[in-house]
Amino acid sequence: MKIGVYELPNRVFAAPMAGIADRPLRRLWRAMGAGYAVGEMTTADPRLRNSAKTSRRLRIDADTDVPLEAVFARRGIASQMESLASAGAGRGPAGPAGPSAPTPARFGTAPDGPVAVQLAGADPAMLADAARYSVDLGAQIIDINMGCPVKKVCNSACGSALLRDEALVARIIEAVVAAVDVPVTLKLRTGWSPDSRNAVRISQMAEAAGIQMLTLHGRTRACGFGGHAEYDTIAEVKTRVAVPVVANGDIDSPEKAQLVLAHTGADAVMIGRAAQERPWIFAEIDHYLRLGMRMAPPSIAEVQPLLLQHLDEHYLHYGEPMGARTARKRIHFLARKLRGGHELCDRVNQTDDYAGQRRAFEEFLQEAAARGRFFEYIEAAVPVRGSELARRPSPENTPEEIRHRELQWA
Ligand SMILES: Cc1cc2nc3c(=O)[nH]c(=O)nc-3n(C[C@H](O)[C@H](O)[C@H](O)COP(=O)(O)O)c2cc1C
Repeated sequence: MKIGVYELPNRVFAAPMAGIADRPLRRLWRAMGAGYAVGEMTTADPRLRNSAKTSRRLRIDADTDVPLEAVFARRGIASQMESLASAGAGRGPAGPAGPSAPTPARFGTAPDGPVAVQLAGADPAMLADAARYSVDLGAQIIDINMGCPVKKVCNSACGSALLRDEALVARIIEAVVAAVDVPVTLKLRTGWSPDSRNAVRISQMAEAAGIQMLTLHGRTRACGFGGHAEYDTIAEVKTRVAVPVVANGDIDSPEKAQLVLAHTGADAVMIGRAAQERPWIFAEIDHYLRLGMRMAPPSIAEVQPLLLQHLDEHYLHYGEPMGARTARKRIHFLARKLRGGHELCDRVNQTDDYAGQRRAFEEFLQEAAARGRFFEYIEAAVPVRGSELARRPSPENTPEEIRHRELQWA
């Protein structure tokens, strides 16, 4: 499957998720089989370009296989690297569980790029300018977001609100396509509400305006995340356009991915929330689609080096103290359904620094490995609740904030 000139290794993609699918997580997902990953939504508003959040989201270079050390050295933050290394971040001699232990072949060979930046906005000229700016920074694909209201970002209706203004959608796409010579893609919901599902019209118009791939989340804006994603509209879009179509929404297993592909005729699937718990789901789906059978589950020994390296990269990305707050959320999603996960969540909640969280995570993995070769799932998952995520309250992890993030994507 190709996007413009870019040939992708498979048709199992990672969804853009603001506040979740940051650069370190995308690297992990790609190492675990995602054929393509889109960056978190970034505002087109140039006034916010230098804000901490936007510039962090636009750190494009390390989306490829450039070693993180090189990236950080270039930015002159070697001191942070040194303190992580001396805290035992696995850059020195590593034991069997350390990140530099040999990584088995199934995982760990993240493909290079292409680097996709997702932009949100409502003003065609502003979006065109933001696209040029992103390409200058190294973006190889520009994705336009029509799935999010983001009033708080640009103070006007953008994201999925645009689906109500088809003429504006056309002007936006034309402006962005004319501004850059990299592929421009579009991610949208099926419409504004169940009685105004206009994804087919928008998709045809987008194709005529030069969009090179369409990703459809099988819900309308009004559906929020409620009910089930529907795939009929995606199937209809697929019959009406020639560009690749990606099906998204509620895909959480290899069997479901195959059913959705068969039902819609889509060229690829995109996975979001399920990959927070099972980052290896991409390899599982790819294996199933290629060979028609389930992949053997990943052993703890196989994924441990990558998970620990991910935590290191997470801290390199955010630094302290933000790294500690955001790592809690990451670890909670990974561990909440596993034996011993509850205790791990408690420990990381009470730890405010890299060394303590890493020790807790490493010990959890070692104890799990001592019990058996594979992760043990327990019946009742530990819910990811704000109160558990952040005993020391953080603005990112309160129940209100978690709910807010979900509603934002409603
Ligand atoms: C917390 C959260 C953040 C999201 N952020 C984005 C985003 O930045 N850009 C985007 O296009 N979609 C975003 N989405 C929507 C996802 O990309 C995806 O369309 C949706 O979660 C459905 O896929 P899933 O059922 O596999 O999770 C977000 C969803 C969630 C839950």
